[in-house]
Amino acid sequence: MGNIINVRNVRKTFKKDATQDLLVLDQINLSVKSGEIVALLGTSGSGKSTLLRIISGLISPSSGSVSFMGAPVRGPVAGVGMVFQHFALMPWMTVLENVEIGLEAQGVPVKARRKRALQAIDQVGMDGFESAYPRELSGGMRQRVGIARALVIEPKVLLLDEPFSALDILTADNLRNDLLRLWMKKSTNIQSMLLVTHNIEEAATMADRILIFGHNPGSIREEISISVERPRAEKPVVVQSIMEEIYQKIAKVNRADHAVGQRFQVISLYHRLPKVEVGSMIGLLEALGSEEFKKDSDLSTLAEELYLDVDDLMSIIDCLEILRLAFIDSGHVSLTPSGTKFSEADILERKQIFSRQLQDHVPLVRHILRVLHGRSSHSVSGERFLIELQDDLSDVAAVDVLKTVIEWGRYAELFAYNDNTDTLSFDNPK
Ligand SMILES: Nc1ncnc2c1ncn2[C@@H]1O[C@H](COP(=O)(O)OP(=O)(O)OP(=O)(O)O)[C@@H](O)[C@H]1O
Ligand SMILES: [Mg+2]
Repeated sequence: MGNIINVRNVRKTFKKDATQDLLVLDQINLSVKSGEIVALLGTSGSGKSTLLRIISGLISPSSGSVSFMGAPVRGPVAGVGMVFQHFALMPWMTVLENVEIGLEAQGVPVKARRKRALQAIDQVGMDGFESAYPRELSGGMRQRVGIARALVIEPKVLLLDEPFSALDILTADNLRNDLLRLWMKKSTNIQSMLLVTHNIEEAATMADRILIFGHNPGSIREEISISVERPRAEKPVVVQSIMEEIYQKIAKVNRADHAVGQRFQVISLYHRLPKVEVGSMIGLLEALGSEEFKKDSDLSTLAEELYLDVDDLMSIIDCLEILRLAFIDSGHVSLTPSGTKFSEADILERKQIFSRQLQDHVPLVRHILRVLHGRSSHSVSGERFLIELQDDLSDVAAVDVLKTVIEWGRYAELFAYNDNTDTLSFDNPK
């Protein structure tokens, strides 16, 4: 079967400021074949949504090309439907009208519009609600209307950007199953779906192929092909083993993002530290030190038992690796000797261990301490470091990194911080 979508050497940069560009996607090559569901997994900010927008023609790549059914994509494509996490439904329009507006732009006559809208509403199981207003609908129902709006244009391809992630678990399950049923019944023109998700189980139950994104810049690092027939919900053991494989590959991508040949990565002053609070790190260290997880500390087990999103879990592990408190190896998370000590220590000792690891392994902490020591007032504004970080990081990332490091440093009692005056100092009450 032929390729419906071809993405060749796509690269995308955004203007960071007047002089600098932010490279978001690099060397993206992918094809989506007729008949398949492809899932895209990857950490937040790796450029997945940007890629979907490029494929749909909403934005253009900086270089490289996209083609849809053999024709180059140069603007919005009629055969491509988009499903977003949140749909902007018009509050003053009924369900029917909200679905119809998708066709207005295409110049479909009124009568045909109505007929197709009613059919799309039917397909998503919303018949009976045609004349309801969005305010009368639950989140799940609104999402159904959004999907109907994508279906009404009778797309050949559906691009779905975290379509279920704003819904509660049961509603998400229900909608996911309905969408799969629709797919399996082949009652629509849809030939392929490209689904962005953070949900490993969703990828494992839905996809024929899973692409794992790495970041800085975003690129496809791993691919998993799955030949298990759908529906897979009745095969929990199979789904579980697919999930294990996904976790392992994600861990591998994460690993590869670190310096090669080094057990632990050595970070620079400007390292984009993940936004992780001390409390989350302590929580994971305690879990890893507990009897329960000493037996099995696989990523999948941890994510499930601790109710953590893989992204969140990976961010915490990333930080623990930077601090040499834990490490990951083939999808398995273990404590380092310092991490073990930390997990067994009392509050004061914990702060001491944390303080030592911070000073040894986080250059920004050392830098802040150096500057503080150098000032006769032993105080300095946070802004001073923010400006430095902004040289290398986006404004938002710089703020996040500084905030994170300040929180870590405060916990370790290395310095104090006054949020009202944005001042760092040694004024910790002793
Ligand atoms: N219009 C824009 N201008 C500047 N930067 C942008 C723009 N759109 C996205 N970015 C940046 O591009 C990067 C990738 O963003 P994108 O939304 O594609 O990531 P994502 O993988 O979808 O993340 P998430 O999983 O959180 O949805 C981010 O650093 C983001 O800040
Ligand atoms: Mg996104």
